[in-house]
Amino acid sequence: MTLGALPSQILKDFTISTQQLENLIELFLYDMREGLAQRHSSLAMLPSYLSKPSGQENGIFLALDFGGTNVRALKINLQGNGKYQVLERQDAPLVSADDSYNYIASTATAEQLFDFLAAKLAALATENNQYVLGHAFSFPCRMANIEHAELLYWTKELATSGVVGKNIVELLNEAFVRQGIRNIKAAAILNDSISALLAAAYKDTRTDIGSICGTGHNTCYLEPSYTQTDYAKPMYMNMESGNFDKVPQNRYDEILDKNSDRPGAGRLEKMCSGRYIGELFRLACYDLIDTGVLPQSTISLTSAAITGKDMASLLADSSHNLQVINTWLPQLGWTQSRQEERMYLQKLATLIVHRSARLVAATYAATLRHIDPDFSRQHVIAIDGSLYEKMPDYAGKITETLYELLGKDADKIHCKLSKDGSGVGAAVAAATTLS
Ligand code: BGC
Repeated sequence: MTLGALPSQILKDFTISTQQLENLIELFLYDMREGLAQRHSSLAMLPSYLSKPSGQENGIFLALDFGGTNVRALKINLQGNGKYQVLERQDAPLVSADDSYNYIASTATAEQLFDFLAAKLAALATENNQYVLGHAFSFPCRMANIEHAELLYWTKELATSGVVGKNIVELLNEAFVRQGIRNIKAAAILNDSISALLAAAYKDTRTDIGSICGTGHNTCYLEPSYTQTDYAKPMYMNMESGNFDKVPQNRYDEILDKNSDRPGAGRLEKMCSGRYIGELFRLACYDLIDTGVLPQSTISLTSAAITGKDMASLLADSSHNLQVINTWLPQLGWTQSRQEERMYLQKLATLIVHRSARLVAATYAATLRHIDPDFSRQHVIAIDGSLYEKMPDYAGKITETLYELLGKDADKIHCKLSKDGSGVGAAVAAATTLS
C-alpha cells in the first residue's frame, strides 16, 4: 500500500527518516550514560538487584502481574532448563465492566487496590503450604533492594491514591496482614520489562535485552558493569525508556501530551504505546476532516476512544473493499463511508504504527551499541506486549529498521516474543532469591 495519497503535512508529521533515527541513537546513548552516572537524564536507569538466572531454578512459586487495567495471579511450577507449567491462574480486571469498582482511578485508595491483589493471590495459596512470590509491577520504581520498590510516579494514566512514594512490597504485605494471609512471602519485585527478559533468559542465555511494547513501553538490559551500588554482579537495569525525551514531537504529539495526566513526561511512550496511538490517530483525523479528505459532519470524534486494538483491526483489514473498517466506523457515528475514505484511515493508522516500531527499534539499536559496540556476539531481545504480539507489521517493522540502522550486524540480533513473560519472569526472580 502506498502512503503517498495522504495530505503531505500529515505524511511529514509521522515520517521519521533514517538520519533522524541515527541521531536518536546518539541521543539515547548519551542519556543512558548520563543516567548510569546518576546525572540528569530522561532515562532513569533504575537498578533491579537481579542478575542472570542459571536456567536451573525450579519449584512452585506464586507470581503477580500488575500492569495496568488487569491483574493476573499465577501459580507456576518451574521445572529447570527453561521449562515451566502454569498450574493455576486468576485473572481480573481492575475496572469492572458494570462500573461497580475502579481500583486504578484517583478515587481508589492503596488499601483497596492492594486488598484486591492480595485476595487474588490468596485464592491460589492452599492453606498448609508456604509460597514465595515474585511480583511484576509495571511502573517506575526506585529499588533499594529486591524487596523494596518505591513507586516514583504512575504512568499509563493510572492514578490510585496513596501509592506514589510508597514501598509496593510493604503495601502488599500490609494487605496480607489485614486479610490474615500468613503463607505468602513477597520475595522479589521487578519491572515487567525485566520479567520479560528473565522469562526468556531462563531458556536462552543469549537474552540480554527485555522490552514491553503494549499498553506501555519500556526496555531493560543486562548492564555488565554497574558501579553505583555494592552489588557486584552484572545487573538488569530498568531504563524507563518510555520517558526518553529527545524524540521530535509533531503537533499531534504535543496536543496529546498537553491533555495527558503528566504533561512533559513519558514522551516516547506517548508516541509509541498502545495506550496512546489510538488517540494520536483520533487527533490526526480532525485534520483529515479540516483538509476535506474526510467528510465534515458525519464523524463524531469528540468522545470516541480509539484503542490499540482498534488500530490493529484498521491495519489488519485486507478485504477488497475494506469492509471490516466499514463495520467498525459506526462507533465514530459514521455509517456511510466511501472506500477511498476508509483507505485514508488505514493509511493514517499504518503511518502511526510504523513510526512507533521505528522509534522503538532505534532505542534497541542504541542499547545494543552500549552493551556490545562491536557486535561481537549474538543477542536476543525478549519482547512482550500486545503491540508486538498482535499489531500487524509491528514485529516485522522493528526487524526491518534494525537492518536499516545496523546493516549486517543485525544478523546477530534476534527479536523474540516473550509471551506472558511477566508471570514466568516474576516466578524465576522469586526462585533466584532462594539460590
Ligand atoms: C512504565 C514501565 C513499564 C511499561 C510497560 C510504562 O508506562 O513506566 O515501568 O515497564 O509501561 O508496561
